[in-house]
Amino acid sequence: MEEFNIKTSVRFGKDALSCLGEIHADKVFIVTDPYMVESGMVNQVTEPLQDRKYKVFSKVVPDPPLELVVEGVKEVIAFRPGAVIALGGGSAIDEAKAVMLFARQIGNLPEMEFIAVPTTSGTGSEVTSFAVITDKEKGVKYPLIDKGLLPDVAVLDSNLVKSLPPAIVADTGMDVLTHALEAYVSTSANAFTDALAEKAALTVLKYLIRSNQNMEDSEAREQMHVASCMAGLAFDRASLGLNHAIAHNIGGKFKVPHGRANAVLLPFVVEFNADIQGYNPKEYTKAAKKYAAIAGLAGLSGGTVRMGVKNLVREIQKMQEMMHMPAGFKECGISQEEFRMQSDAIARGALADNCMKTNPRPASEQDISEILKKAYNGGQASR
Ligand SMILES: [Fe+2]
Repeated sequence: MEEFNIKTSVRFGKDALSCLGEIHADKVFIVTDPYMVESGMVNQVTEPLQDRKYKVFSKVVPDPPLELVVEGVKEVIAFRPGAVIALGGGSAIDEAKAVMLFARQIGNLPEMEFIAVPTTSGTGSEVTSFAVITDKEKGVKYPLIDKGLLPDVAVLDSNLVKSLPPAIVADTGMDVLTHALEAYVSTSANAFTDALAEKAALTVLKYLIRSNQNMEDSEAREQMHVASCMAGLAFDRASLGLNHAIAHNIGGKFKVPHGRANAVLLPFVVEFNADIQGYNPKEYTKAAKKYAAIAGLAGLSGGTVRMGVKNLVREIQKMQEMMHMPAGFKECGISQEEFRMQSDAIARGALADNCMKTNPRPASEQDISEILKKAYNGGQASR
């Protein structure tokens, strides 16, 4: 038996933030980063709260460290809010999730409503039961996985993403495509996750370039914001795969943004998972057929499964070029020597990563090393 449920109520469309006026609590705790306060964006969240008492905790930094979670927990326990709002990208939402989880467990607090308001279109964190907390001293990232991390409400207001710079749109948008494609070919995929992953992937293929190249294109920005959430719903249940397993380890060793690392790897991981060596249709893997199905729906079909996969890979590379993204880790500014020195550790780390459990094709350390070699140079050969 399988189960599919969505705990989080998703509010989206025009003036979605006005739903914050419906909060029952008298006291609201807001978790965000300093930029949201300096830019005045936090006002878009505080205004609908009207005369409710609120406190803004604006110390969130990228890759929130353990100490910041402890600080947030202490403040929540002291303030005793009836609702917590996370406003920001993946880091602010992850910080709030961890704070909520621990504050609920140790604080003897009344019921707290948890509302996530994403300001980037990438992580899907507003609808997932994952959060990542970092131990900066040990250089270790701790993934938290708990149904208790799921927000009660996710508010998708595209006003909050209209001023995102093109480079962030590119990185986070390719992260969405990676979430969608990995969930789609995951060994834990089902009909419901497929529907969400398929729609998210097609939306990215149609709207990401527009969103990247024209900040005024509100339709494209809105579509990408919804696609990010849909991909989050898909991978929360179907999980991810090899692409994220490697990207997590690249991110731990080098300063490459998460979405950019995923984008560099994606063409090579799709080729690896599809495993389209032969021309005999009977030899096509389930993953190859699914990639080709996406290509077909996006108008990139080449008539055969093999051509569908090739066209999807070419499209991903074309999108990277159009958005001026690096084609390989070399272009990300990593020296060949440094990359080679870390390659074995990255491959071993990827094999141990939880995401590997649902990858459609088993991979050996040697397989991952081959992918890393190709991804370093950027694989001009297949362009
Ligand atoms: Fe991701």
